[in-house]
Amino acid sequence: MSLYQKHVTTMRDLERETIETVFSRAQQMQFRWPGPLLEGRVLASVFFEPSTRTRFSFETAFCRLGGKVVSTENARSFTSSSKGETVEDMARVLASFVDVIVMRSDKEGMAAQAAAASSVPVINAGDGTGEHPTQALLDLFTIQQKLGRLDGLRIALVGDLLYGRTAHSFCRAFLRFSETTFFFISPPFLAMREDVKEELRTAGIQFEEMDSWGEVLEEVDVVYITRIQKERFENSFERKRCESMYQFGPKDIARMRPRSIVMHPLPRAGEIDPAIDSDPRAAYFDQVRNGVFVRAALLSLVLGV
Ligand code: NCD
Repeated sequence: MSLYQKHVTTMRDLERETIETVFSRAQQMQFRWPGPLLEGRVLASVFFEPSTRTRFSFETAFCRLGGKVVSTENARSFTSSSKGETVEDMARVLASFVDVIVMRSDKEGMAAQAAAASSVPVINAGDGTGEHPTQALLDLFTIQQKLGRLDGLRIALVGDLLYGRTAHSFCRAFLRFSETTFFFISPPFLAMREDVKEELRTAGIQFEEMDSWGEVLEEVDVVYITRIQKERFENSFERKRCESMYQFGPKDIARMRPRSIVMHPLPRAGEIDPAIDSDPRAAYFDQVRNGVFVRAALLSLVLGV
């Protein structure tokens, strides 16, 4: 499937071949920026929720390729959304100005709503508790580069698997690869969403659920840690319960295989001890760096250059 003029709102839509096309383009860009491929193009970057990595890496990617960016980092207050404008109307309006829209929204499904109304591609930069497909792309790109493969992996996914959109997109990305085994490690009340588990079952992907990493660390290729999404909880009792629940540090990484990696979409809020940052298996800052190349690759493919 060509990505040309396509919306990217969920990992469900991306075939293996498409993912591999993005990765080979990203790898070329990592080697050398290709020059002003996107000269004359304009990106609208519309963020309804806070972001450091995602927004700056999308905008950096577009600038590196010679394009121009128009942007709001507080769309809830600084757009007509504050006057009650629907996301569909907003998307229609922006699509009449720009060539591509990157949107981070605070509600699941909002990127898809914008996409349905937009005549230019909409890329989901995180929709509430839904998905974060470009994070999954850069996560898999990082695994491919660090471990040399995406099939046959044993992966521990730790933290808030209910509300964490990065975890949802990450699992869906593996629908396209074979022989994955997941260990879902979370408190029971933040267990992986049922719909994601059902998709994994249908695809024949093995998973086990547990509330601590116990003996798994010795066996896995990847430990992917996520932040407890405290801002998504209504219940302050639950919030308190999960504070400092998972803290990964030197003792834990010491149990892992020499050829394995520790990942995190960041920001971290106490889940990973900075003492392990210099361990060659700590891959979270590689993920950050790769985000620019993967997003640049995706934007150039969506715009057909
Ligand atoms: C994540 C997000 O916003 O979903 N961050 C990111 O984009 N790298 C993860 C998080 O906020 O926990």
